[in-house]
Amino acid sequence: MKILVLQGSPRPKGFTQMVLERFLAGVASKGAEYEVIPLANKKIKPCIGCYNCWFNTPGICIHKDEMPEILEKLKSSDVWVWATPLYHFGMSAYMKLCLERTIPLVLPFMIESDGITTHPYRFPDQEAKKMVLISVCGFPEVEHFSALIENFRLLSRAGRRELAGVLLRPGAESMRFIEKLGKKGEDVLNGFYRAGQEIVEKGRISQEVEEIVRQEWTKNRRGFQDQANLFMTIRLEHEERTRRGEEKRPFEEAVKQDIRILLGGMAVSFKREAAGDLEATIQFDVTGKQPGQWYYEIKDGYCAFREGKLDHPTLTIHTPSEVWLAISNGELDGAKAFMEKKYTAEGDLNLLMGFKSLFGPM
Ligand SMILES: Cc1cc2nc3c(=O)[nH]c(=O)nc-3n(C[C@H](O)[C@H](O)[C@H](O)COP(=O)(O)O)c2cc1C
Repeated sequence: MKILVLQGSPRPKGFTQMVLERFLAGVASKGAEYEVIPLANKKIKPCIGCYNCWFNTPGICIHKDEMPEILEKLKSSDVWVWATPLYHFGMSAYMKLCLERTIPLVLPFMIESDGITTHPYRFPDQEAKKMVLISVCGFPEVEHFSALIENFRLLSRAGRRELAGVLLRPGAESMRFIEKLGKKGEDVLNGFYRAGQEIVEKGRISQEVEEIVRQEWTKNRRGFQDQANLFMTIRLEHEERTRRGEEKRPFEEAVKQDIRILLGGMAVSFKREAAGDLEATIQFDVTGKQPGQWYYEIKDGYCAFREGKLDHPTLTIHTPSEVWLAISNGELDGAKAFMEKKYTAEGDLNLLMGFKSLFGPM
C-alpha cells in the first residue's frame, strides 16, 4: 500500500505535524510506504479556470510549477491523506490550491454516480483510491469541523474515493502541554498511531479510534476558555517584554515555567464530581521567582482562577513559585514538601489534603 500525505499546515512544528507523525509511525509499524508533501513548501499556482487542461492540452495544466509532480504521485498512490489545520471552518489555502489543481485528473463530461452528477476519471486506475482526512483546530468543540467533514464527504462521493477515516483533533493547541493532559493526551496520540496501523491492516479507520482522537480534553468548557485566555495574556506580555529586551527565553520555554499557567491548569482540571456542593476559596500567596497573589473560587461545581488577594480565604497556601512548579512536574512530592516546610498552609487543611481528588489529570 502506498500512502501519499498532502500536508497543508504552514507550521512545520505545528499540531497537524504532531498528530501526523504519530499516524505515520503507526503506518510504518505495519510496513507500508508513505511520502509526505509539505504543500506550503511547494510552488503551486491557483487554478484560473481556463479549462486548458480539459480542451486545449488534455490532462496538462497551463501553469508551470510543481503541481505536475504532485499529480503523478497522486496517480500512483493508493491512499491520499489530506492533513490540514482548520482555517475558518475549512481547509488551509495551501491545501485548497492543491485540491483545485487536481482538475486535470478528470474529464469534462458528466456522469451520474451515487445519486450525484460528477466527472469521469481521465485515468482509469484512479478507481481504487481511498482518502483519509486529518485535521486539528484551536477551539475545543468538534462541531467546528462540520463544514470540513461535509466537504470531504462530498469529495469522496463525487470523486468515488472511499473516505476511509476522519481524524479530528479539537483544542489542538493544548497539546503543547501534552504531559499535563495525562492519560487523555497519551490516549489521543496512541489513537493516531492506531489509526495509522488500521489504515494499513484493515483499509479503514475504526469508529472507536476516530472517537478516541476527537474526545474533548475537558467537559469544563468555561475553564478551557479561561485557561486559553490566560495563555493569550501571558503570550502578549512575553512578546512585550521581549521587545523591551527584558525577556530572553523563547516563549515555549517561558510559558512552561509560568506559575499562572500551572495554577490555571489546575483550575481547569477541577473535578466537579469530587467537589459535590463544595464552596471554598483558596488563596495562593506566591513568593520566589514569580511572586504574586492568586486565588481559586469554588462554587456551583466550578473553580474560577483569579488574580488578587482575598480577605478571608478558606485555605491559604504560601509557596515559592519554584516549589509549586516542582511539585506539579513530579520533581517534588507534595506531602513530603509540606512536611519539610518547603511550603506552608493555613486555614482548612482538609481542603489541602483533598487536592489530589479535587484537581487531577483531565
Ligand atoms: C487563519 C487561521 C484560521 C483559523 N481558523 C480556525 C477555525 O475556524 N476554528 C478553529 O478552531 N481554529 C482555527 N484556527 C486555529 C488553528 O486551527 C490551530 O491553531 C491549529 O493548531 C493550526 O494547525 P497547526 O498547528 O498545524 O499550524 C485558525 C488559525 C489560523 C491561523
